[in-house]
Amino acid sequence: MRYHMPTEILFGPGVAGRVDAVVRDKRRAKRPFLVTDKGIVGAGLTERVCALFPGLPVFDEVEPNPRQTTVDRGGELARKAGADLVIGLGGGSALDAAKAVALLAANPGRIEDYEGRERYAAAPLPVVAVPTTCGTGSEVTWVAVITHTGRRFKMSIKGPAMFPAAALVDPDLLVSLPAPLVASTGLDALTHALEALTARPATPFTDILAIEAVRLIFRFLPAAHRDIRGDAQAREGLMMGSLLAGLAFGNSDVGAVHCLAESIGSLYDTPHGLANAVFLPLVMEFNLPAASGKYALAERPCDPGDTQAAGLGPVTRRDGTAAGGRPMTEGDEEAARRLIAKVRALSRELSIPSFRDLNIPEADFPLIARKSFENNSNPSNPRTAGLSDYLQLLGRAAAGD
Ligand SMILES: [Fe+2]
Repeated sequence: MRYHMPTEILFGPGVAGRVDAVVRDKRRAKRPFLVTDKGIVGAGLTERVCALFPGLPVFDEVEPNPRQTTVDRGGELARKAGADLVIGLGGGSALDAAKAVALLAANPGRIEDYEGRERYAAAPLPVVAVPTTCGTGSEVTWVAVITHTGRRFKMSIKGPAMFPAAALVDPDLLVSLPAPLVASTGLDALTHALEALTARPATPFTDILAIEAVRLIFRFLPAAHRDIRGDAQAREGLMMGSLLAGLAFGNSDVGAVHCLAESIGSLYDTPHGLANAVFLPLVMEFNLPAASGKYALAERPCDPGDTQAAGLGPVTRRDGTAAGGRPMTEGDEEAARRLIAKVRALSRELSIPSFRDLNIPEADFPLIARKSFENNSNPSNPRTAGLSDYLQLLGRAAAGD
């Protein structure tokens, strides 16, 4: 069993202001390169970074569901600039693009040449990741997800050297995040936590992070959605929940919800968090036969009776025998169903659109099912999900279940 997390994390209100100290003093970088998007520029967030680094090259072309052509352009510019470090500022798209640009700045060719695990010859440039949403987790993971427009497929580019060197997680950067983005990125974080908890590669390390993330997100997401600017405690609690969820799925995995959301995102540019939010309760119901015990743990995180050898992976009992995970009981299934009801209620409270609002043609369901089935994370889902299972999930979503 292993937990690997080489990223230095600074968390707290105002830590983003320490980016110059991290880049110059700790990383000894002389020619940083900024990767971000136009929304972040428009919100005035890049100005603060540029003021700290006069002459800083800014690549602000990252779009939602970032494309391989965009990353290739960014990589070319970073090479020309002779960059020695990449700062990623923004949501998941900007951070994933920053990690991919850092790879290309140190290696020849295009980003599609590096699809898969550890395909790079030289280590990517160090990345300092500064998230501006409460959902990505990308600041503490080793993967960049980039859309290949020709194949209409989301490529995973990953490897141990892809972890950001540092993550500056500053809840105050959320103050201008619009409420619909608080909702969708917050539910993305909840999905990370619940999928990390139940994925096959989960360990006691990732379980404990995921359970705490679920607790924080349920507690603080509604208040953050109501008043992200005025409620500093909710901002901080939600940002911590998002970070812990990233620390969980980065060493466990995601599952069928992300398989569906990534397929839909690659085809229709659907916002990632929204697609996750629509499918999360449906996939949880599908997973009940395999994951009720884990869902029950997340539903009752404060019950000490549940944390003792109660499904937290292969822990050891006092008598020395491995507990493994208890058999499912009726109580577990009831608790799991309560958790699913809470997820549905949270989505309603946050005014998450329905599947029908996403305007996805039914004729494409077989294609979406196939892409979901072929997703790298499909084997991690706790219950084996085949093509027909994905088709059924899409049918249930379309029926408004
Ligand atoms: Fe996600």
